[in-house]
Amino acid sequence: MQIKSICCIGAGYVGGPTMTVIAEQCPEIKVTVVDINQSRIDDWNDDNLNNLPIFEPGLAEIVEKVRGKNLFFSTEVDKAIEEADMIFISVNTPTKTYGKGKGMAADLKYIELCARQIARVAKTEKIVIEKSTLPVRTASAIKDILDNTSNGVQFQILSNPEFLAEGTAIEDLLNPDRVLIGGDMSNSEGKKAIQALVEIYANWVPKEKILTTNVWSSELSKLTANAFLAQRVSSINAMSEICEKTGADVQEVSKAIGMDSRIGSKFLNASVGFGGSCFQKDILNLVYIAKSYGLNEVADYWEQVIIMNDHQKNRFSDNIVRTLYNTVSGKKIAFLGWAFKKNTNDTRESPAIKVADNLLNEQANVVVFDPKVKEKQIYQDLDSLGTRSPEENKEHLTVLNDPYRTMENAHGIAILTEWNEFKDYDWKRIHEKMKKPAFLFDGRGILDRTKMEEMGFAYYKIGSGN
Ligand code: NAD
Ligand code: UGA
Repeated sequence: MQIKSICCIGAGYVGGPTMTVIAEQCPEIKVTVVDINQSRIDDWNDDNLNNLPIFEPGLAEIVEKVRGKNLFFSTEVDKAIEEADMIFISVNTPTKTYGKGKGMAADLKYIELCARQIARVAKTEKIVIEKSTLPVRTASAIKDILDNTSNGVQFQILSNPEFLAEGTAIEDLLNPDRVLIGGDMSNSEGKKAIQALVEIYANWVPKEKILTTNVWSSELSKLTANAFLAQRVSSINAMSEICEKTGADVQEVSKAIGMDSRIGSKFLNASVGFGGSCFQKDILNLVYIAKSYGLNEVADYWEQVIIMNDHQKNRFSDNIVRTLYNTVSGKKIAFLGWAFKKNTNDTRESPAIKVADNLLNEQANVVVFDPKVKEKQIYQDLDSLGTRSPEENKEHLTVLNDPYRTMENAHGIAILTEWNEFKDYDWKRIHEKMKKPAFLFDGRGILDRTKMEEMGFAYYKIGSGN
C-alpha cells in the first residue's frame, strides 16, 4: 500500500511537530495538518517563524524547510480528509468537566466529532490512526462510528500513541526510543495497514525500534508509560520531603539510587511538582478505567501519584509563607519561570499556577518572568482557576520581561521552571537589589547552595534541609 497523502486533524503540540518531521523525512508524501482553530493555523503559516504557535528547539528550522513544499497547514478539514490515504487524529482529549466521569474520565467528544466527519466525507479507503492518547478500547468506538455512518467505505483503525516530551519534541521524534503501532493482526487488511505505517517510520527509525502490537496493548501502553513516569516524579518528591526533615539531600539520594541499573538515573529530579497537559489527565483517566472495572485498589494506587503531586505544590507555597515570618501579605514574591518545564512555552497544569494562586490567597504581590511564556497566557491560566476576578488577578500579579526588574526589591524569589539561563544570572547583583533577608526558594534545585549562601541569600532548595 503506497501512501501518497497524509492528513492530520489537530495542529497542536503533537500534530504540528509530528507531521513536520514526517514531511521532512518522507519528501514524496504530501502532509496536510488541519485544525478548526483559524488563528492557530494562521500562526503555523506565519512568515515570521518566531510566531509559530509552538516553541520547540529545532522546529522552526524544519518548518522553514518543508512548509509549502510537502507540508501544509489549513482549516479545510473536509478537503484534506478526502485527499488523504492516511488520517492521523491528534486532537485534544482533556479531562471531562461535566456529567459522568467529571474530573476523571477523558472527554472523547473531539475524537467522536473527527470520526463522524471522516465517515461523512471519505469516498475512498482510509487508514485512520489514533495519535491522541485515549482510554483503552476507544478504537472499537471509532470503528463503530466509521462502520455505521460512512458511505460503505472501508476503514482500518490503528493506534500509534506519541511519546514525545515537550522541549525535546524534535529530538524525540527524530530518535525515538520506540515507535508503537497497534492494529488488527487477525486479517490481511489490518496487517497491510500496520505495514503501511511501519514503512513510513522506517524512513528514519531503525526497524527494530518499531514495535507492533494489538490495538488494546498499544492504547494501554501509552497510559502506562505516563503513569510510570509521573509515579517516579511523585516518588522522588515524596523522598524530598523526608530529606528536608532529616538532613539528607535528595540530589545525592537520586544519584545514589540512579546508579543502580535496575532503577536508572532518568526522571529522578525532585521538583515543585510535575505539570504538563498529560500526566495528571492520563492518570485520572487510568484511575477512572480501573474504577469502571471495579478495580478499586488499583485505582487508589495510581490516584496517590496525583495526591502526592498536589501536596508538593502546596507545601512549596506553604514553606514560602512560613519562612517569610508567616505572612506574605503585601510582600513582593518574584517568580522565575511559569512554563511547566524548560524549553517550552506550554503552561498547561504548570505548578507555577497553583503556587501563584496560593500566594495570592495570602495577599502576596507576585511578579513573574518567563523567557517564553506570554503575559496573556499567564493571566489566562490564573483566571481559569476562578479563584478571584480577572481584575483582582491583574492587580496583584504582574508580568515583566526583564528578570532583573522582576527580582528588584523582592522579599523572596521562587524558581518554578528550570530554564538554563536562570543559572547564569548575576546573582550577586540580584542579592544587592533585594529586600533583606534575601529569601530564595529553589523549586527545581538548579542553583548551588554554597555559592548562594556565600552571597548572603537565605537559600531553600527542594529536597535539602537547611
Ligand atoms: P492541543 O490542544 O495542543 O492540540 C489539539 C488541537 O486539536 C487543537 O488545536 C484543536 O483546535 C484541534 N481540534 C480539536 N477538535 C478538532 C476537530 N474536530 N477538527 C479539527 N481540529 C480539532 O493538544 P496536544 O497537546 O497536541 O495533544 C493532542 C493529543 O496528544 C492528546 O490526546 C494528548 O494527550 C496527546 N499527547 C500530547 C503530548 C504533548 O506533549 N502535548 C504528547 C503525547 C501525546
Ligand atoms: C510527558 C512524557 O515524558 C512523554 O513521554 C509523553 O509523550 C507526554 O508526557 C505526553 O503524553 O504528553 P511532557 O509532559 O512533555 O512529556 O514532559 P516531561 O519531561 O515528562 O515532564 C513532565 C513534568 O514532570 C514536568 O513538569 C517536569 O518538570 C516534571 N519532571 C520531570 C520532574 O519534576 N522531575 C523529573 O525528573 C522529570
